[in-house]
Amino acid sequence: MHALKDIWKDVTILPMTRDDLDEVVRIETASFRQPWSRRQFEIELKNPVSHQYIVRISINNRQRVAGYIIFWLIHGEAHILNIAIHPLFRKRGLARRLLEASLDIMKKKGIDEVYLEVRRSNEPAINLYTSFGFELIYIREMYYGDEDALVMRLNLGDS
Ligand SMILES: CC(C)(COP(=O)(O)OP(=O)(O)OC[C@H]1O[C@@H](n2cnc3c(N)ncnc32)[C@H](O)[C@@H]1OP(=O)(O)O)[C@@H](O)C(=O)NCCC(=O)NCCS
Repeated sequence: MHALKDIWKDVTILPMTRDDLDEVVRIETASFRQPWSRRQFEIELKNPVSHQYIVRISINNRQRVAGYIIFWLIHGEAHILNIAIHPLFRKRGLARRLLEASLDIMKKKGIDEVYLEVRRSNEPAINLYTSFGFELIYIREMYYGDEDALVMRLNLGDS
C-alpha cells in the first residue's frame, strides 16, 4: 500500500479559478500562522495586476490542487505575494516546478526584477528562493508583528 503522497502523477501548472478556492484555502490554512482569508484570494482573482497559478496533480484519476502561487506584475517588476504546497506533497519538487513556471511567465512579459518577503525562520522557503538565485537585499524588522522579514530580490536578466 503506497502512501497518498507517493502515488500522484501528471503535474500541471494552470491559472487559478474560483473553483480551486476551497482547496487553495485549505492549503493556505495548513501552511501559515496568519493565513489569507477566502476573500483575499477572491480579491486577487479580480485584481488586474495579480497573477495566480495552481499546481495540479492526479491521484487515482482525481484532480487535486497541490499548491499555488500569487504574484503581481507592476511597473516592470514582479512581487511574489504567496506560495504554498499542501503539507502532504512537500519536498517533491512541486514548489520548484511552480516557481520555475512563474519565472518563465515573468521573463516572457519582460520583467527584470522579482521581489518577495519571507519570515527569517522559514528555512524551507529561504532555501528554495536562494537556489533560484534570490539574494537578501534588506531586513524589515518585526514586519510580521512577531518576526523579521527578509526582503529578497532576483535579477531575471542574470538567471
Ligand atoms: C516553502 C515550500 C513552498 C516549499 O515547497 P516544496 O514543494 O516542499 O519545495 P520543493 O520540494 O520544490 O523544494 C525545492 C527546494 O526548496 C528547499 N526546501 C524545500 N523544503 C525544505 C525543507 N523542509 N528544509 C530545507 N529546505 C527545503 C530546498 O532547497 C529544495 O531543493 P532540494 O530539493 O534540491 O533540496 C513549502 O515548504 C510550503 O508550502 N511551506 C509553507 C508555506 C510557506 O512558507 N511559503 C513561503 C512563504 S514566503
